[in-house]
Amino acid sequence: MNFQAPKGVSEYIPPRSAIFEFVREQLCAPAKSAGYKYMELPVFEDTGLFARGVGESTDIVTKEMYTFEDRGGRSITLRPEGTAGVMRAVIEHGLDRGQLPVKVLYSGAYFRAERPQKGRYRQFYQVGIEAIGLNDPLIDAEVIWLADQAFKNIGLKNYRLEITSLGDAESRAAHRKDLLKFYETLNLDEATASRAKLNPLRLFDDKRPEMVEAMSKAPKLLDYLNEDSKLHFEKVRAYLDALGVQYEINSKLVRGFDYYTGTTFEFIHLGLGAQSAIGGGGRYDKLMSELGGQDLSGIGWGLGVDRTLLAAEEEGVIPADLGNADLFIIPLGTQLAAIKIAAELRSAGKVVEIAFGDRGLKGAMKAADKSGAKYVLVLGENEVESGSVELKTMSSGDVKSVRISDLVNAI
Ligand code: HAM
Repeated sequence: MNFQAPKGVSEYIPPRSAIFEFVREQLCAPAKSAGYKYMELPVFEDTGLFARGVGESTDIVTKEMYTFEDRGGRSITLRPEGTAGVMRAVIEHGLDRGQLPVKVLYSGAYFRAERPQKGRYRQFYQVGIEAIGLNDPLIDAEVIWLADQAFKNIGLKNYRLEITSLGDAESRAAHRKDLLKFYETLNLDEATASRAKLNPLRLFDDKRPEMVEAMSKAPKLLDYLNEDSKLHFEKVRAYLDALGVQYEINSKLVRGFDYYTGTTFEFIHLGLGAQSAIGGGGRYDKLMSELGGQDLSGIGWGLGVDRTLLAAEEEGVIPADLGNADLFIIPLGTQLAAIKIAAELRSAGKVVEIAFGDRGLKGAMKAADKSGAKYVLVLGENEVESGSVELKTMSSGDVKSVRISDLVNAI
């Protein structure tokens, strides 16, 4: 019996897994350097958290959750996203009662029962941040800038940032009134009408051509922003301009969650085809209080590691020697000495591999070649005795004599 991975999951095996690690680290780096603190959370939570947090009108809650009953009869769901779990943890551990804003960083696997295709998986990976407790346009701009920096760090160029504002409750209420009036003129089918009832904005996300056409005439929320919301959004834009972040305004941008208010945004990669969103996020005014916490606004994003990796491959910006060893040692009857030399170099931060087994020199050279190591040396009794080795640079074939004690500087 041969087993295969479940349908639609993404997994990374060597050598490509080194690229995955690289991309994930690069995505985390700007947020870490801005003081976001890492958080590790469970991959499953009480189903109610997501129903409540993510929103009943969303595809995620209605069609895509991996929900099951555990052995104690509790309804459990594999996390489809990170924000609701972060809110739960922040409230449960009282972080919202400490210094504000709470700034956290997380990364891990997320689960959505979607139709699998390139860039869309049932288990996928995100890096995310949340900044909770301050409703300040400067934080919005910094949060967006951190995502932009993350993509730039990796070397991505061929993407675009779209932003909009969903306004505050008053702005949305004014818009909603006119939007519902507009829907009355459309003769919506039952399913669509009930989605519109749960969240009228959701229909901007409807991909059916006739709906796209109809919605092009719908009133836009951006035109309904009250003074406060308008000013907030103007400041966000001014800060982004000052920080040199390029963006486009997309008044029809709708994200897949009901919790967003105010500033929302999405990063679209132009070389990925259909699954082009490499990251997205926004502000949420009511999420904390709806989940039982204090009435604090927050903002954050999730960046897709899988899609960012695809984008980086597409743009050809992955460093070539990721995960390769610095040195490959081929011992000839000197295994123990080799391990000791390797241990010393490794503790100095070098990546060192040793040829194991009895493959003979030819087989070991082949293994060295395959490993992609930068340097190779053959360690015989003579070398151990003399304390000097012939160090071969694999790319050029050049060989030079190096003292074993000086290897750390030579490689
Ligand atoms: P999201 O837009 O649903 O936002 O997901 C963020 C990113 O995860 C997407 O832009 C995409 O790159 C990646 N992604 C989503 N679904 C899949 C999938 N099925 N396969 C591969 N990649 C996928 C959130 O999850 C929000 N929690 C972000 C956020 C944080 N908003 C505020 N704070």
